[in-house]
Amino acid sequence: MNAEMQWKNIDEAGLVDIAKACASTIGKSGVVFLDGDLGVGKTTFARALIAALGVGERIKSPTYSLVESYQAGNLRVHHLDLYRIADAEELEWLGLPDLLQGDMLMLVEWPQRALAALPAADLKLNLLHAGDRRDLVLEAASQSGRTWMAAAALRLGRSRPDT
Ligand SMILES: Nc1ncnc2c1ncn2[C@@H]1O[C@H](COP(=O)(O)OP(=O)(O)OP(=O)(O)O)[C@@H](O)[C@H]1O
Ligand SMILES: [Mg+2]
Repeated sequence: MNAEMQWKNIDEAGLVDIAKACASTIGKSGVVFLDGDLGVGKTTFARALIAALGVGERIKSPTYSLVESYQAGNLRVHHLDLYRIADAEELEWLGLPDLLQGDMLMLVEWPQRALAALPAADLKLNLLHAGDRRDLVLEAASQSGRTWMAAAALRLGRSRPDT
């Protein structure tokens, strides 16, 4: 069974704290799917996580470029936004196999647009509008995702994820 953590009615600072906890506990590599409606906070989360890894440059939304890549120490970071993609074949020109080489973190907004082309997720973040705030479900979808989430939970002062 996949482990899960949930938050209700978090503000933006709360979301940023969760992103920072994920940044500080990442293992060798990781793939994170970011699900949720337009404007719910997927880029906000990705930006906070990438900044917390020590990337000093401005972190742009990849809405038009589809992918923005960064170097954070030894880790290659790829931030994708597939909103404008209609099916997996449209991603061929991106050269995903090359992006997956070596130690890397891949953060994917709108992953459902091209699931067949993507690697399996370690973590799945699902954001929902809750008035001015947000509800959040973080799901570990692989063994390394479970390890990662348990470490992030500790960092956030939660004893362990719900299973
Ligand atoms: N609790 C919250 N968590 C995240 N963002 C919040 C929160 N409350 C308000 N916001 C605001 O909501 C907006 C979220 O925008 P963001 O670009 O991160 O969304 P997105 O999910 O990436 O949208 P898109 O699908 O268009 O890429 C920002 O303006 C942010 O300031
Ligand atoms: Mg976005």
